[in-house]
Amino acid sequence: MAESGTPTGSGGAALALEGVVRAYGRRRGRAEGVVPALDGVSLVVPRGRFVAVMGRSGSGKSTLLRCAAGLERPTSGTVRIGGTDLATLKPAALTRLRRDRVGFVFQSLNLVSALNVRENVTLPLLLAGARGGPELDARARAGLAAVGLADRSEERPENLSGGQRQRVAVARALLNDPEVVFADEPTAALDPVTAAEVLALLRRAVDERGRTVVLVTHDPVAAAWTDEAVFLDRGRITGRLDRPDEAAVRRTLTGGATGRAAAHAVAVTR
Ligand SMILES: Nc1ncnc2c1ncn2[C@@H]1O[C@H](COP(=O)(O)OP(=O)(O)O)[C@@H](O)[C@H]1O
Ligand SMILES: [Mg+2]
Repeated sequence: MAESGTPTGSGGAALALEGVVRAYGRRRGRAEGVVPALDGVSLVVPRGRFVAVMGRSGSGKSTLLRCAAGLERPTSGTVRIGGTDLATLKPAALTRLRRDRVGFVFQSLNLVSALNVRENVTLPLLLAGARGGPELDARARAGLAAVGLADRSEERPENLSGGQRQRVAVARALLNDPEVVFADEPTAALDPVTAAEVLALLRRAVDERGRTVVLVTHDPVAAAWTDEAVFLDRGRITGRLDRPDEAAVRRTLTGGATGRAAAHAVAVTR
């Protein structure tokens, strides 16, 4: 697997995609010329790694994240989380896997304005059948304290700043200490200082708790917080950078011959 990112294959990987295709709205007789949102993506993310997925708007980043997190079924190809092939799971088992092993920070935060911050944090677990009560509430408060929101847990989301709301979404994704956290442009609407706070939270989940984080971002500064940047173009992985720094990411994104060549060189030498 040329793009596996680990010489030992996908056995111990947190996440492994193989030949994932996701086509939307394909109708009989209209298949020709339809570019699938994902066009054969293979990607292995070892445990304890922070990976950025980058690419222009419409390149398939969100689709990749949804397929990888089990929120959406690929048209073909396989997705494994911690070795479990998601296609083998019945809907109830997939829901449990998402509840117990996956965290997701949505591009649109999906906070419910009628609920307070703590209730927002516990809601996905409750919806997925977890037991509510003082223990879960205490865990939510601890999670909110960990993102610097100890004193805001009974507040409504509308009374929080954008950065604070984003941190609520991160606390929610981390509540169950999931193996893999997916975050879709969590810093896109934030100022640089607040963005750095959110990225530091994700970095800490990797460094201190051994979690795996897959971050979609447009931002070379955000990518520089990660261990590896993967570049997507029209549903295909076109390159990757190890320990990406801001300048190298910029070069690759702007598609200069050097950037492309550098990213490609990394891809073929791994
Ligand atoms: N639910 C959907 N139905 C139809 N087309 C979709 C859907 N979601 C995404 N697409 C299409 O798939 C492509 C990739 O979209 P997306 O994954 O959202 O890209 P990105 O997150 O990189 O901006 C785009 O052409 C988009 O229009
Ligand atoms: Mg998107």
